[in-house]
Amino acid sequence: MRLDRHLGPSAMREALEADVRAGLTAAPKALPPKWFYDARGSALFDEITRLEDYYPTRCERAVLAEQAGTVAEHTRADTLLELGSGTSEKTRLLLDALRGAGTLRRFVPFDVDESVLTLAGKQVGEEYPDVEVHAVVGDFERHLPLLPTGGRRLVAFLGGTIGNLLPEQRTRFLATLASTLTGDDALLLGTDLVKDPARLIAAYDDPSGVTAEFNKNVLTVINRELDGDADLDSFEHLAVWDAQNEWIEMRLRSLRDQVLHLRALDLRVRLAEGEQVRTEVSAKFRREGVAAELAAAGLSLRQWWTDAGGDFALSLSGRT
Ligand code: SAH
Ligand code: TRP
Repeated sequence: MRLDRHLGPSAMREALEADVRAGLTAAPKALPPKWFYDARGSALFDEITRLEDYYPTRCERAVLAEQAGTVAEHTRADTLLELGSGTSEKTRLLLDALRGAGTLRRFVPFDVDESVLTLAGKQVGEEYPDVEVHAVVGDFERHLPLLPTGGRRLVAFLGGTIGNLLPEQRTRFLATLASTLTGDDALLLGTDLVKDPARLIAAYDDPSGVTAEFNKNVLTVINRELDGDADLDSFEHLAVWDAQNEWIEMRLRSLRDQVLHLRALDLRVRLAEGEQVRTEVSAKFRREGVAAELAAAGLSLRQWWTDAGGDFALSLSGRT
């Protein structure tokens, strides 16, 4: 397996420092979601995907199981590039279909967490010995233009991770991604759909507390990397439905008045009792909205598939 690092340890550290300093000195306080994902965070997310209440993974897998053959036929891709690839578990359905069509030569998983990326990349390499695995560590908000080019590429962005970008970030992300695609390339995008808020909240606030632990992992990362003293028990996990923006917002709520000391940043952060730090949004979509955002980036929606219950959508698009 080949591994490219666009984010090595020191660049990663610099980015974390900048994000944490900006986010915790802002009003209201916020932290970007990419910092959930160290080895422990990726393992916790993998646990989330198996929770009964967390329907997105199950529903997306159902759509992929049904449509991967059609995707392979339409794209005839030789390269499968996966953004925010994580364990690449569902991705096997695409790899199988492209191999079945006889076109697959290369798999390029791309993730900010090197630990999950390396594990998944090696496993895929063993399971698909004829496929060249070229793993890339990086940030999909910064390093898309550095991804391998050539051939017919299918870019998969699954899991509804696009919904974790704020609207302006999403616009920029899609425009940059579109600018890297040629006429032969295609984008396969997974988007979670608007539904009953009770089901949405349950998906992001499970009774077993795995989601809460995942959310708090960002504090563990900050403590370790920035020599911080955050007490995880002094925060609680919150998942709130924002009906205006049609997104779920994940927050950490301070249970008391406290001061966090981040020694590596020489920064003290005061939190009042009840004060909330936003750690993630997870936007939920409608077909017209996805089509419009793709169009604004210069992409046209060619196919739209959902699972039987209409909970999760996969769309296939390409350069106009
Ligand atoms: N695609 C998998 C994992 C989704 S979780 C699935 O569908 O289940 C989101 C993944 O995106 C994690 O593996 C995380 O490490 C990665 N990620 C989050 N922010 C990122 C960023 N800015 N750049 C690259 N990868 C990112
Ligand atoms: N990409 C996932 C999503 O938006 C991330 C996620 C799932 C998440 N559950 C979470 C993030 C809980 C924070 C807390 O569905």
